[in-house]
Parts: sequence; structure tokens; C-alpha cells
Amino acid sequence: MLILGIETSCDDTCAALVEVKRGKFRVVKNVVASQANLHKKYGGVVPEVAARKHVETIIPVINEALNSPSYTQEWAGGWSRVLPKLNAIAVTSGPGLITSLHVGVETAKALSFAWSIPLIGVNHIEGHIYSPLLSSHTPLPVPRRGPGGGRASTGITFPAIALVVSGGHTELILMTDHGKYKLLGRTRDDAAGEAFDKSAKMLSLGYPGGPEISKRAEKGNPRAYDIPRPMIERDDCEFSFSGMKNAIRLLIQDLSTSAIPRVSPISRVSVRNDLSASIEQAIVDILINKSLKATEKHNPKTFILAGGVAANKNLRKSLKKALPKKIKLLIPNIRYCQDNAAMIAATGYFQAKKKKFTKYDTLTAHANWELVE
Ligand code: KG4
Ligand code: ZN
Repeated sequence: MLILGIETSCDDTCAALVEVKRGKFRVVKNVVASQANLHKKYGGVVPEVAARKHVETIIPVINEALNSPSYTQEWAGGWSRVLPKLNAIAVTSGPGLITSLHVGVETAKALSFAWSIPLIGVNHIEGHIYSPLLSSHTPLPVPRRGPGGGRASTGITFPAIALVVSGGHTELILMTDHGKYKLLGRTRDDAAGEAFDKSAKMLSLGYPGGPEISKRAEKGNPRAYDIPRPMIERDDCEFSFSGMKNAIRLLIQDLSTSAIPRVSPISRVSVRNDLSASIEQAIVDILINKSLKATEKHNPKTFILAGGVAANKNLRKSLKKALPKKIKLLIPNIRYCQDNAAMIAATGYFQAKKKKFTKYDTLTAHANWELVE
């Protein structure tokens, strides 16, 4: 099965061509046109600016996804060769910035109509959950009967728990089968990625903040500063990061005052590295603590780490170390942690298999589409 994925839920214009053959997901082409530089000067994504850029970029990005130079032999001739083989178009239809979502959704609808190719609306969070399959070469569904009804498929053995950590989400989700989700807990205010982004902004480190903080954290001391870990004592899977943000603001204010200007501690590289390491460690500690609470309560066979923050090396390593060995840990390849359309195509595959298509004239974008009840 060959699926074209389209993703424009935030500030990246993405298209990908994914082939599912003999139980393997093969990413034929994954195109991401990042708008990070465009939004850098604002310290965050400006929805109007993002949508306008998506409009400009979407067709060239899809064009590139369908004309894969790395598969010249197979796909020579571009669209005209690919189209007869294309089984579906999967597009992110929520959640996200509504003006950004519209661009991808309306483009996908137009292409579905023009090319008579079935259309699938995909939930962005579900896309992240399936992103580890893109780097896995585990065979596709082989139903296996066993106690608890666990079924082995695509590397996910149910029940599974997913920790989705991105710029907009921090959620622990219980997955009992494909498409069956239950919310275990989520953030009450900021997302983990936002905690990284806002801390980086306060430290004038640029946007997106996660990669900037983690780069400096590698050279710093994670125990140098005492950063609060809100809600860590609670015996549930709820998160909160806004209190941490205020504590970091006060700490930075403190480190910025000095009798002699230009020699305030915050201007020293080592202080910024130590602060970055301490902030990163606090966020990682919270995520690990709540993940372990969820696994103790629900005894999953698989644990999935996904979303932009899953690119964080400290988090990947710490989770591997902390989880009981009997739980299979699925983490996406770094290149599929951030928003991309390959994960949307892979998620679309599971709906295409069940022939769950949406007509081009009925699909709509939903900014607040909840994956879980
Ligand atoms: O999933 P994603 O690309 O977009 C959303 O759906 O939000 O996630 C972006 C988030 C940003 O907050 C970014 O700072 C964070 O992922 N991020 C990281 C790292 N790389 C990206 N956070 C921590 N460490 C990283 N290495
Ligand atoms: Zn995302």
C-alpha cells in the first residue's frame, strides 16, 4: 500500500510518501519545510505567519515528496508514475492551529477530488504515537492469542502506554488496541516542550528551545540549581509545568543582578550550561516519575515515547534505564520525533486497511480534536 501523508498542524509544512509492503513501513520520501527561522524572531509560532507560509510551500513540498530522486528508477516520471499506485492520502485534520490545519486539509481534499484517491483524516497525536513504527522493521499484525488478549502487531503489543510530549501536549495515554485510547493524565497548564521553549526564551537561547537547552545541558551540571518538580509527589499521572516556569524566571532574575554590569552570573557560559542542565533534569525527572506511576498501575507490555521532546537524549536514556526490562520500549528515530508527514501516512495505513475513508467534501479541520475521552 502506498500512502501520501500531509501535515501542517503547526509551523512545519510536511509531505511524505510511505509504502507498506510485506509488513514493513518504508519511508520513500519525507519532506519537512521548517518555518523555525521565520518564527525565531517572535520567540514562538505566529499563527497568521505560519498559515501564509504553508500556503506558499504546500504544493512544492508535496511535489518533492512525490518526485523522489532516491527512487528515480522506481518512481521515474514523478507524479504520473506514482499516482496510479497511490492508495490513499492521509492528512492531519487536528488538533493544531486552525489556520495551519486548513491549508493541509483543503489541499488534501482538492487532490483527493482531482485524483480520485481516498482521503483519511488523521489525529496529530495518534500520528506521534505511531511514529516509532517508521524506524521499526517488525512485521505487521500477526494476531497472537494469549492471556489478557495481548496482540502482537507492528511492534506494539497491547496494552501499551504512550507518553506524548511535544510543544502543545504532555499526555500519558493507555492504548488497548489500534485506535482504542484512554487518557491517564495530562498537563494542567504548559506542555513539556513549552517548558523547554519558555525557559530558552528567558535565557535568550532562541526558538525552538528544546534543542538549544539540551545542547547546553550536555556541558552543564544538572544538580547546580534547585528547580522545582511540581506535582511529582502526587500519586497520579497529572502534570504541571507553569510553577516551574515562574521559579526559573525568578532564578534568572536573581542571576542577572550584579553590582557590576556585564559580569552578572547569567552572562557566563558555564552558568547558562548549568541552568540548562538543571532545567532539563527537572523536566526529565517529572516525565520519568509519572511514566513509572502509569506503568505500575496499568502493567503495559509496550511503552511508547513520542512527540518532539522525545528527541531529548537525556529523556531517551533515562526512560530506557528506568523502565522494567519486561516492558518493550518504542522510541521513534530522531528524525521522526518532530512533526512530519511520514507518521501521518503510517497512521493512515491502519484506517486504510479498514477502509475508513472520509469523502473529500466532508473532511474538516478540528483545532481541538481530542484523541482520548
Ligand atoms: O512534536 P513537535 O515537533 O511539535 C508539536 O506538535 O508541538 O514538538 C516540538 C517541541 C518543541 O517544544 C521543542 O522545543 C521540543 O519539541 N523539542 C525538544 C527537543 N527537540 C525538540 N525538547 C527537548 N529536547 C530536544 N532535543
Ligand atoms: Zn507534534
